[in-house]
Amino acid sequence: MRRAVCPGSFDPVTNGHVDVVSRAAALYDELVVAVLVNPGKAGLFTVDERIALLRDALVDVPNVVVDSFQGLLVDYCRSNDIPVIVKGLRAVSDFEYELQMAQMNRELAGVETLFVPTAPQVGHLSSSLVKQIATFGGDVSGLVPKAVHERLTAHREQGT
Ligand code: PNS
Repeated sequence: MRRAVCPGSFDPVTNGHVDVVSRAAALYDELVVAVLVNPGKAGLFTVDERIALLRDALVDVPNVVVDSFQGLLVDYCRSNDIPVIVKGLRAVSDFEYELQMAQMNRELAGVETLFVPTAPQVGHLSSSLVKQIATFGGDVSGLVPKAVHERLTAHREQGT
């Protein structure tokens, strides 16, 4: 079975993530979307909330599995027998750091990285920009899945 992992913080999932994950899922038998558990950095959403929002957003992509991981990504790949990491590239500015990580992950564990260029319509999206816009009452309804929009609105109304 051909498997790959698409890792990230997903705080929260955006339409850009959905684009990359859905297109990458078509290339593999199973695509694992793995949410990084980072004890040193509290996000807006808990890891459990991020996982639930990802599952909801990707419900129509049958070969996607959503999971979480802590520590090195290559250790997660080794433990789960996953030989490929999938990363979305929005712009040249993403490339330098992503290339460095791809080379390091290959050196550490022989894990390859596949870069998927995002669709141009979502190339400007990032979770942090979405959060910033939503915090100040901007309209993000066209940038994130419906459930994420609802949760962001709830956060703003609660002042969190
Ligand atoms: O969505 P993000 O925050 O850009 O995702 C970054 C992520 C989770 C892919 C990256 O930080 C990562 O792989 N973290 C796990 C720790 C690790 O393996 N570090 C070494 C990378 S060479």
